[in-house]
Amino acid sequence: MNIHNNLTGSKVLVTGGQGFVAQHLNLSLSSIGAKVYTLDIIPPKHSSNNPNVIQITSDILDFESMELIFKKIKPDFVFHLAAKVSVLDSEKFPDEYILINEDGSENIATLCAQYNVKKVIFFSTGGAMYNYHFTINEKTKPNPISVYGRNKLNAEIIMNKILLKSHSNFSIIRPANIYGPSINYNHWKPHGVIDIFIKNMMEKNDVIIFGDCSRDYIYVEDVIKIAIATLFLDIPIVLAGSGKSINTKDLFHKISKYLHYDLDPIIKNIRHNEVKSISFNVDKVIESLSIMDLVLLDEGLLRTINQLKKNYKDIL
Ligand SMILES: NC(=O)c1ccc[n+]([C@@H]2O[C@H](COP(=O)([O-])OP(=O)(O)OC[C@H]3O[C@@H](n4cnc5c(N)ncnc54)[C@H](O)[C@@H]3O)[C@@H](O)[C@H]2O)c1
Repeated sequence: MNIHNNLTGSKVLVTGGQGFVAQHLNLSLSSIGAKVYTLDIIPPKHSSNNPNVIQITSDILDFESMELIFKKIKPDFVFHLAAKVSVLDSEKFPDEYILINEDGSENIATLCAQYNVKKVIFFSTGGAMYNYHFTINEKTKPNPISVYGRNKLNAEIIMNKILLKSHSNFSIIRPANIYGPSINYNHWKPHGVIDIFIKNMMEKNDVIIFGDCSRDYIYVEDVIKIAIATLFLDIPIVLAGSGKSINTKDLFHKISKYLHYDLDPIIKNIRHNEVKSISFNVDKVIESLSIMDLVLLDEGLLRTINQLKKNYKDIL
């Protein structure tokens, strides 16, 4: 299947468009011929210099404004990424998280059904969906322990219920921990463990490791490849991981070596409602999406470190 031919000239709405993952998605979609309408509650920091990426500022909770946007654009495809994304904050502000992650997703699904969007892709979570210490696959029963994880599972159920009765196809992506360089380093903030380690090590600060955990880290461009390939396949749930799990201490040592950081980490207990260890079996995904050559962790870390070093002056 030639994704390029299928997307040329099509209109794609991306929610959460100013976010870390969506910025990569915007670029990839526009480079393969789609007209991208990228929407976020945060106004863009720069006007788009890409005529095929149109930036929109709106709140997914504002149904009337969102309806006007759907009415005007009539998107062929929707990627729903807008969300509150911190496991720790979700425990502190559960109401806000339920509102945006569940009610906001309900709005998006309702409008996709109403405006006959051909395919809807929802970015759920893989990292916070399970609470297992072994390898999970598509058949593993979700068991989220955090508010954020439960939000995402509820949103999957809500969206599925609405879209099942519509003409829109629906797929859910459950990504592991996504890492990689950012597209834009203005007002950059560390995004997850790998960014936090790199930034602290570059600044010669202490690095804290919470608990004896192992996680699966997937390079951001691999997630985008998987998400775009899913557009044209009838797969309900896609586990997007690297298939390899690494202990946080080993990750610390890998990054220390690249950055010549010689302090020992500070070890603390695992934080409330964080998943201890998880590993994804992604054989089926790789086979059904024909995605080869996922970026290896060492290569991905080097690319992330090098980009951050290059842009470091912009984040100070
Ligand atoms: N980064 C990861 O490791 C990871 C892992 C698994 C799943 N995910 C999921 O992938 C998606 C993208 O994650 P990310 O890392 O890019 O997060 P991000 O925080 O960088 O992006 C989310 C974006 O959603 C926007 N947003 C929040 N509330 C909104 C609202 N009411 N209306 C419109 N926009 C709103 C934010 O302003 C932000 O730009 C999220 O749905 C997240 O849950 C991310």
